[in-house]
Amino acid sequence: MNNMEFNLSQYLTEKQALVNQYLQLILLQYDKRLELIMAMDHSLMAGGKRLRPILSMAAAQACGKNFLIALPACCAIEMIHTYSLIHDDLPAMDNDDLRRGLPTCHKKFSEATAILAGDALLTHAFNVISNPKPVFDIYPDDQTRIKLISKISRAAGIQGMVEGQMMDMQSFQPEQNNELSHLKKIHALKTGKMITVSVETGALSAGSDAGTIDKLIAYAENIGLAFQVMDDILNIEGDPQIMGKAAGSDTLNEKMTFPAVLGIDESKKYAKNLIDKAIEAIWEFDAKATPLRQIANYIINRDH
Ligand code: IPE
Ligand code: IPE
Ligand code: MG
Ligand code: MG
Repeated sequence: MNNMEFNLSQYLTEKQALVNQYLQLILLQYDKRLELIMAMDHSLMAGGKRLRPILSMAAAQACGKNFLIALPACCAIEMIHTYSLIHDDLPAMDNDDLRRGLPTCHKKFSEATAILAGDALLTHAFNVISNPKPVFDIYPDDQTRIKLISKISRAAGIQGMVEGQMMDMQSFQPEQNNELSHLKKIHALKTGKMITVSVETGALSAGSDAGTIDKLIAYAENIGLAFQVMDDILNIEGDPQIMGKAAGSDTLNEKMTFPAVLGIDESKKYAKNLIDKAIEAIWEFDAKATPLRQIANYIINRDH
């Protein structure tokens, strides 16, 4: 497989369908008439890009393994990501009405249901990794799954996504001298950590060695930051119809973003430079890393 033969859009579509199929199987174990399950289903199945699970599978593939080995943990990561979006949209946070092309969970149901649907997605994600058997045919051994739980819970929690969200909420009162380094920290935490652990999860599920994993982490940290810089840019330049979420909200909420600190053009250059660094970090990998390389470019060329 080389760059000429590889069709990224087909790859993304196929992997999205696979992730959707397994997320659906996870939910099908529960009664869809219950409001809690309906709300989880509403947000989870609304049609996200599934970038994090796709990165996980692409990393397992880059490590020379069957990408299906990454599927249990990457479904769990998508559940955690979806919980973070439900809570991010709440009135107490970004107060958004539209997500993944549909009304946000609290708009469709109620604030209480949205909070609880988020809680349930987060909690059940760890059940999926610890009990993969009812849904998945292939899964990593017990020891690897404990390691995955440890890594993913760290990335999502106190020194990861939640800390980043906390700093994002406080970013209107920057106590630091250097705005850019503060902003980089927010973005690396609120978005970078989950993207990094997605790639790491794929490599760990594939049983890769520490040296290989370190290179993949360097790749992931760069694309993770670039992804949020691009999210900031799309919040200004993007089309809400295509993105399935509001534009202009960061300016309205006086958020500290890359365009606000660097300007749009510099932010684009900054993101491009991060993507170059990401691709450089995995230069030693063979053609099995073609999807990872192409996904890196997609991150700064996407329109949603
Ligand atoms: C949006 O993530 C929130 C960020 C961390 C920037 P995505 O852009 O991956 O959203 P979905 O999953 O495709 O809806
Ligand atoms: C979301 O960041 C990061 C999360 C951890 C959910 P944003 O608030 O910038 O993302 P969007 O633009 O609402 O998707
Ligand atoms: Mg936010
Ligand atoms: Mg938001």
